[in-house]
Amino acid sequence: MKILVATEKPFARKAVEGIREIVAEAGYELAMLEKYTDKAQLLEAVADADGLIIRSDKVTPEVVDAAKNLKIVVRAGAGYDNVDLAACTARGIVVMNTPGQNSNAVAELAIGLMIFMARNKYTPGTGSELKGKRLGIHAYGNVGRLVGACGKALGMVVSAYDPFITDAAYFEAEGVRKVDSVEELYASSDYVSIHIPATPQTKGSIGYELLNRMPQGATVINTARKEVIDEAGLMKLLEEREDMKYATDIAADSQAELNEKFGKRVFGTPKKMGAETAEANINAGLAAARQAVGYLRDGVTKFQVNK
Ligand code: 3PG
Repeated sequence: MKILVATEKPFARKAVEGIREIVAEAGYELAMLEKYTDKAQLLEAVADADGLIIRSDKVTPEVVDAAKNLKIVVRAGAGYDNVDLAACTARGIVVMNTPGQNSNAVAELAIGLMIFMARNKYTPGTGSELKGKRLGIHAYGNVGRLVGACGKALGMVVSAYDPFITDAAYFEAEGVRKVDSVEELYASSDYVSIHIPATPQTKGSIGYELLNRMPQGATVINTARKEVIDEAGLMKLLEEREDMKYATDIAADSQAELNEKFGKRVFGTPKKMGAETAEANINAGLAAARQAVGYLRDGVTKFQVNK
């Protein structure tokens, strides 16, 4: 069996060493394709792979077609919007993610971005503190819960909205107020931290109407996916509301224009860096290797997302 690790944005060395050990212990072959610049390289490398481990790398129908032996794709990370599930399912290829493995890194970045924006992107001038501010968590999953806990530790007043968690006790147990609508969450938060996946339903779902509900001086932090934002709506909002700020992990498509127009009120990382820590790479990379081997050798389908 051959497992290919295809990472345009490579894992930390330690993670690669760990993956190598897990694959070798199973008696499988490991192939590495890192920092590739052309889709053709992936198409060639995947041709004889039985398992594929990726990060944000795109698994398109073309990739599936080229991968004649492929049985499993493991997305080392949470969001699998980069994998064409229908194409994989049609070929009987199992797709998994590694939920929770890189969440802490993303949560820390979300808090870092809040402080960065509150302190005027570390430029001279009077900033503000997070203590006492209202933090709204948009989707209370692995990352959202950690951001909430960090926010509480900083003295923020934390609320959360998650349409998939109806049990109020779940939030209350963590000292977080459950909010029943997304509109109420935005209306009652000085900071909103976004943690929704990019799906056909969520893409472009956060726009002018929702953002404009936020109170004076509010900041939106997006460490989820740039696609969930309606950028035209965001642009209009920032034009009309000089009090508001927006920071995103991975530059918006219109980031150059946003930067030029709104300067200190906006920020976008040039490359997605939420999960770019050695710890997150090791956690997610090793979990992905174990899951790939677990499926190929023992048929374990835990964390399969295309059941
Ligand atoms: C995720 O969905 O797990 C994060 O966005 C991390 O993505 P990355 O592996 O491309 O950094």
